[in-house]
Amino acid sequence: MKTKFPVERFQQLETPFYYYDLDSLDQTLHEVATLAGQYGYRIHYALKANANVPILKRISALGYGADCVSGYEIRRALETGFSPSDIVFAGVGKADWEIELGLDHGISCFNSESVQELEVINEIAARKGVKARVALRINPNVDAHTHHYITTGVEENKFGINPWDREQVVRFLTMARNIEFVGLHFHIGSQITNYDVFKGLCIRINEIQSWFASQMLMAKSINVGGGLGVNYSDPDGNGPDFKTYFEIFKHHLDLQPGQEVHFEPGRALVAHSGSLISRVLYVKEGIKTHFAILDAGMTELIRPALYQAFHLIQNITSSADGKLYDVVGPICESSDCFGKAVYLPETHRGDLIAIRSTGAYGETMSSNYNLREKAKTWYSDEIQSNDPSK
Ligand code: LLP
Repeated sequence: MKTKFPVERFQQLETPFYYYDLDSLDQTLHEVATLAGQYGYRIHYALKANANVPILKRISALGYGADCVSGYEIRRALETGFSPSDIVFAGVGKADWEIELGLDHGISCFNSESVQELEVINEIAARKGVKARVALRINPNVDAHTHHYITTGVEENKFGINPWDREQVVRFLTMARNIEFVGLHFHIGSQITNYDVFKGLCIRINEIQSWFASQMLMAKSINVGGGLGVNYSDPDGNGPDFKTYFEIFKHHLDLQPGQEVHFEPGRALVAHSGSLISRVLYVKEGIKTHFAILDAGMTELIRPALYQAFHLIQNITSSADGKLYDVVGPICESSDCFGKAVYLPETHRGDLIAIRSTGAYGETMSSNYNLREKAKTWYSDEIQSNDPSK
């Protein structure tokens, strides 16, 4: 869906800021919820992608569950309308207070990643006189063919229970009195655009699930994680293809009667709805290109610096003939660069630049390096209601 920027209104606002197109967000959320309903799939939205309160309220209102990776995210999910029975808690290093918080609220399930963690969960649950529902996060050793830093499902990664630990896990679970085994969990990486990877995941899940069944551990749910990628080159085009994605699981995942399938998308639901809006502070001559120096930097959006991630960059106030610019931020780091040799219309001090598809892992990964303050956030409905001309 095409985002139309209210440029005149933007001119009056302090930059940089994050802008969310709620119509585009709503459309994606509705479409995916309807589709998941048709397949009987359950979706837990991964809060780490974007945890802004108005966005979470929209997501919870449509019946999505929440995938949290910290006690702070669990609190935020509870505050924004997710029911405890729809909250799952993952993460390779859950602190004791976070486990206690999850148990006190009776969350749906802990996705556990090691024998030692299972022991701690069991111990804390025993102390509280409750049973913790636990799914095992298994490292399936499937390569997601995505950026090295966001690959999580191969054996060299810290995530999940490795094959050599499985027997010990089974022995422990059969003894643990305060743990109820509810399912198997997988997540192999993020920004996956090659759909064959998901087929490979299904095949591996089938093998792993048979092994657990042979050990008399029957999973009520299979959680296949998140990871569906978006097309960063085309923020206004059709969003990620959830139908093709769901079909792969329908065809390739062997399910037992009554078994539920859970998904945990983050990026695919929210990325395209957000843009980082920034002003050009200065334009400087470089050797091969020009530098467009923005008032937003890696403090607001670290993805290009951290993963060499591509985001479409648009000058939304100029349409003059263009040339090549290195679009950089004001932070004292050479990696503070949003794009090299980007073709933009002739750009001047004061022009507004939109960095697109930043709704996922933009604000949530921002920092206050150089003691910078957090960028403001605007939603399309506020902008409209604040606009004196409307
Ligand atoms: N479930 C688990 C267990 C995860 O670790 C993640 C993401 C998700 C679900 C959601 O994945 P998604 O559908 O958003 O791909 N900061 C990086 C992405 C890191 C993802 C970490 N885990 C980025 O900016 O690309």
